[in-house]
Amino acid sequence: MNTKLEQDIERVLFTEEELRQRVAQLGAQINADYAGRSLILIGVLRGSFIFVADLVRQLSLPCTVDFMAVSSYGAGTTSSGQVRIVKDLSEDIAGRDVLVVEDILDTGHTLSHLLRYLEGKQAASVRLCTLLDKPSRRTQPVEVQYCGFSIPDYFVVGYGLDYAEQYRSLPYIGVLKPCVYEKP
Ligand code: PRP
Repeated sequence: MNTKLEQDIERVLFTEEELRQRVAQLGAQINADYAGRSLILIGVLRGSFIFVADLVRQLSLPCTVDFMAVSSYGAGTTSSGQVRIVKDLSEDIAGRDVLVVEDILDTGHTLSHLLRYLEGKQAASVRLCTLLDKPSRRTQPVEVQYCGFSIPDYFVVGYGLDYAEQYRSLPYIGVLKPCVYEKP
């Protein structure tokens, strides 16, 4: 464990065990909803990489995994509203059932743009699974079919989520101390 990173955490919001249990529940729900079908998971880099890895191991369906990368936040704490595709799909999703997997849904800028883009690719269906949702921050409507936890507007890191590219490796989700990101 990186104790230097841990000093910047005000408190743990979701422990490893809580995350494990919730991801298992989401997996069970997805298995039931897509029974008899196959799925393509599209992870949105970089924040979703741990969630995708844990979620896919809970799925008993035939599934493939692809990733996209988009830029939105940069090194700050609020969305710039600019969404740019940095890495596009490697697979053709026409006729496929698609599940977009995200770490966090905040303003909705990234996902509303991404879902519109994917819906233009003749997929059989496009649904969204986000580990965290901050509904109070939403400025763009986004339909969420699978949500791990709905949270207040805390600045959270760990389990893939970063601040300035740090803290992704923490095994739990924690609230970052404001002194870390507040400018003096
Ligand atoms: C986060 C998250 C979403 C987006 C959500 O990514 O993974 O993609 O922000 O914010 P929005 O709802 O306000 O658009 P981030 O830009 O921090 O990049 P990362 O995945 O590389 O950490």
